[in-house]
Amino acid sequence: MAGLLELERVTAGYGGGDILHELDLSVEDGGITCIVGPNGAGKSTILRVVSGLLRPRLGAIRFRGASIVGLTPRAILQRGIVQVPQERSLFPTMTVWENVRMGAYTERDQRLIDRRLEEVCEAFTVVRERRDEPAASLSGGQQKIVEFARALMLDPALVILDEPSMGLDPKTRSTVFETIRAMNRAGRTILLVEQNARSGLGLASHGVVLESGRVRLEGDGPAVLNNPEISRLYLGATA
Ligand SMILES: Nc1ncnc2c1ncn2[C@@H]1O[C@H](COP(=O)(O)OP(=O)(O)OP(=O)(O)O)[C@@H](O)[C@H]1O
Ligand SMILES: [Mg+2]
Repeated sequence: MAGLLELERVTAGYGGGDILHELDLSVEDGGITCIVGPNGAGKSTILRVVSGLLRPRLGAIRFRGASIVGLTPRAILQRGIVQVPQERSLFPTMTVWENVRMGAYTERDQRLIDRRLEEVCEAFTVVRERRDEPAASLSGGQQKIVEFARALMLDPALVILDEPSMGLDPKTRSTVFETIRAMNRAGRTILLVEQNARSGLGLASHGVVLESGRVRLEGDGPAVLNNPEISRLYLGATA
């Protein structure tokens, strides 16, 4: 069965040479797909070609069966693919509420925006409780969750998260992963990139190990996590 998002033989780079080499990737509808791999493997580059920030040199990218290669980032957003970037991306002096509202910037229908605001307030306690405070006053983990809330304002079918747990302490990290699980249960398909292989693959219905722009191994999340070679490479000898 075809995935919600399909990459087929995608080759892409930045001018200095190719970073992704004939990459095939399928993101199953309704699942959590997690890409792990070392720094510089090309994980964020995959996300950039999907969101239209980088055009692949070769290959096909299909969303719901239709090509999205060459569409603008805005057009891709409007098709239902929303990305939460690796770095912090809230406007620090704006309030939580204003930041979340910005997520709906391509939406004109005010009643629809209001209804979605209500929904994210319902789903994310921190948005409800801290709505009038500047984003910069929140902890790193809280800010990440507000970024998730902002991403849901366009009611996306596919939510792409680039290393959401980066820089968070273990307790906050588990809150963030719990939130990802809840978004998935609420019907969002998730494509996740994660340095923390154990947490990421533990959550995933499908796991992909990327090395030097190529798929090294893939399978269902727990199978990849329990692969002896992967344990040795990514989880340390004691795993
Ligand atoms: N804008 C850019 N211009 C030139 N080279 C880039 C650019 N962005 C990334 N690269 C290079 O592409 C390669 C892959 O980078 P990418 O950001 O996709 O890695 P990553 O797997 O996301 O790593 P990390 O885990 O550190 O985030 C790296 O060698 C990087 O230096
Ligand atoms: Mg990256």
